Amino acid sequence: MIPDNVIEEIKVRNDIADVIGTYVTLKRAGSNMNGLCPFHNEKTPSFTVFNGTQSFYCFGCGAAGDVVTFIRKIENLDYVEALRFLAKRSGVNIPEEEQSGGVRRTRIYEMNKAAARFFRSQLLSSSEAKEYIVKRGLDKRTVDRFGLGYSGTRGFELINHLKELGYTEDEMVVAKLAGKGERGYYPFFRNRVMFPIIDTAGAILGFGGRVMDNSLPKYLNTPDTPAFNKGRNLFALNYAKDNCKECLILCEGYMDVIAMHAAGFTNAVATLGTALTQEQARLIKRYTSKVILSYDGDRAGKAATDRASKILTEVGIDVRILQVSGAKDPDEYIKAYGADAFARLIKGSETKFDFVLKGVLAKYDVATDDGKIKASKELCSEIATVDSAVERELYIHKTSKELGISRESVEGDVKKALRLKNRERAGAFEKKLQNKALGIGDKINPEHSANPKAVAAEEAILGIMMLYPERTAEIAEGKTELSEDDFVTGFNKRVFSALIKLYSEGKRDVGALGAEFTQEEMNRVYEIQVKRNGLDSQSETVLKDNLYALKNAKAALETDIDKIIKAKLMGS
Ligand code: CTP
Ligand code: MN
Repeated sequence: MIPDNVIEEIKVRNDIADVIGTYVTLKRAGSNMNGLCPFHNEKTPSFTVFNGTQSFYCFGCGAAGDVVTFIRKIENLDYVEALRFLAKRSGVNIPEEEQSGGVRRTRIYEMNKAAARFFRSQLLSSSEAKEYIVKRGLDKRTVDRFGLGYSGTRGFELINHLKELGYTEDEMVVAKLAGKGERGYYPFFRNRVMFPIIDTAGAILGFGGRVMDNSLPKYLNTPDTPAFNKGRNLFALNYAKDNCKECLILCEGYMDVIAMHAAGFTNAVATLGTALTQEQARLIKRYTSKVILSYDGDRAGKAATDRASKILTEVGIDVRILQVSGAKDPDEYIKAYGADAFARLIKGSETKFDFVLKGVLAKYDVATDDGKIKASKELCSEIATVDSAVERELYIHKTSKELGISRESVEGDVKKALRLKNRERAGAFEKKLQNKALGIGDKINPEHSANPKAVAAEEAILGIMMLYPERTAEIAEGKTELSEDDFVTGFNKRVFSALIKLYSEGKRDVGALGAEFTQEEMNRVYEIQVKRNGLDSQSETVLKDNLYALKNAKAALETDIDKIIKAKLMGS
C-alpha cells in the first residue's frame, strides 16, 4: 500500500480543478466550476467541480469523486495506478512496495511471464499441439509474435515449474494460474493452446486458452486478478496501438486478430470474451478516433455490432462497420479469400446507417407497398438516432431514393420519430428522477426504497459529517445522541462507521474511504456529500433535526415490524 501521508501529499499537490482542467474546459460558476462531462455525451454542462471539497459531481450521469477517482475513470487506471499517475505529474516520490491481494502486481506479471515461457516450451515438445497450430494455419512468425503456447496435457507441469522458480502455490492461486480445492492445488489451464494477453506496457496480464477439439468451454480466460480486468484491456492492443492512428479494427475473437495481423492488418484488436465496455471504448479513444467493427457474420455478431457501435459512438468515436459474407468470421474470410479481398472489405466498410439500410433492404420486399412502409419506418427511426443534422439529411436522401418515396415524406416521418424519441427520453428522465427520489432500483443501497424517509435523514447526517468535521468529532466523542445503531440501512451504516473510524484516525479526507468502498459506492458517498454542499449554514441544528427524523423513522419501522410479528403470532 502507498502510505497515507504520501497519498495526502499527492492530493495536496494535485488541485482538482487544475487536473480536470487539462481534460475538460471548465468555466467558473459561483464558487465552483463546471463544464461538459467527459464521462457521458452532453451538450449542456452538468459536470461540476467543487474547489472547497476538492471533488466533482456530474448531475447528468452521477459520476462523482475526488481527483484520484477522476484519473481512475478518465485514464482507465486502478486506484494505485491513478495515485502513481498523479504522483508522477506532481513530482511526488512513492516508495516502491505496493501490495495487492498479498501478492505484488509486478510479481504476478513475472509469474505470468515465466508461465508464458513455459507454455511456449510445452508447445514445442507436444506434437498434438504443434499439429493443431499448423492446422489453424499459424506459421512460426505468428506463433512467436503472439507468444502462443500450450498448457501441457494435465497442466500440473506448470505448477511444478513455477515452484522450482520459487513461486508458492498460493501466489499461483492469486494469479489464477492455479486453483485450490479439497484435494489440494490444481492447474487452471489443462490441455489448451495458450494466448497471452499483454498490455500496452508489455506486461502479461493473463491468458486465453483454447481447446484443440470440440469440447466445451471452447475458451477459458484468466478470471480477474489484482493484475487483470477483462473489461479494461484489449487483446493485441500492445501491437495495434502503434498502427491505429488512422483507424483501429475491433473484432470478437483472438483468432480473428491473429489472422488479421498475419495478413498485414496490424491495427486489429479484440475484446476478451465479454461484450465491449465503456472503459474499453475510452481506452481505444486514447489511440484513435475511428474504429472499424469487424464482428462475426451471424446474428449474435450483428447484435454485438449494434451494441458496440452505440458504446463507441457515445465516447465520440467514428464507427464503420465491416461485414464478412461467405465466411463465418474474419479469420475464415481471410483464409478463404485472402488479404487483398479483406482490404477491399475494409475499404467498403460502411456507416451504421448503411449497415441498417442493407439489413432492411434484405428483410423487406420494397417493391410492394407494405414492404416500403415497413422499411421506411425502420429507417426513419434509425435516422432519428443520428446526432448530426448533415448526416440526417444525407440519410433521408438515401432512404427516399432507395424506397422511391418523396424526400418530404421521409423528412416528415423522421421529424415525427425525432419528436417521439425526445418525448420518450424526457419521460424516461422524469421517471428516473422519480425513482431516484423513492430509492427504486437503488443498487448501492438496496434498502432505500423500503425506507425513503430514513435514508433522506441518514444521507443528510452523512453529508454534514463529511462537510463539517467538527460535527463528526462531536459524534465520535459521544456528545450527540447519534450512534451506529440509529441507522436503518446497511449501506449508510457502513458509511457512518467508516467516517467515524476515519476521523478517529485523525484523517479528514473522504477519498481515503476508497480503500474500503467500491468505485460505485464511492460515487454515492460523494453524491451524498455534494447534495448538502452549501445547504447548511446551521449545521448543528440541521444535524439535530435529521437525527430526530431518523429516530422517528426507525421507531415507525420498529412498530411496523412489531405489528407484523404480532399479526403472524395471532394468525398461527
Ligand atoms: N470466448 C470466450 N469463451 C468461450 C467462447 C468464446 O471467452 N467459451 C471469446 C474468446 O475471446 C474468443 C471470442 O470470444 O476469441 C470469439 O469466440 P469465437 O468466435 O467462438 O472464437 P474464435 O476466436 O473465432 O476462435 P476459433 O476460430 O478458434 O473458433
Ligand atoms: Mn473463428
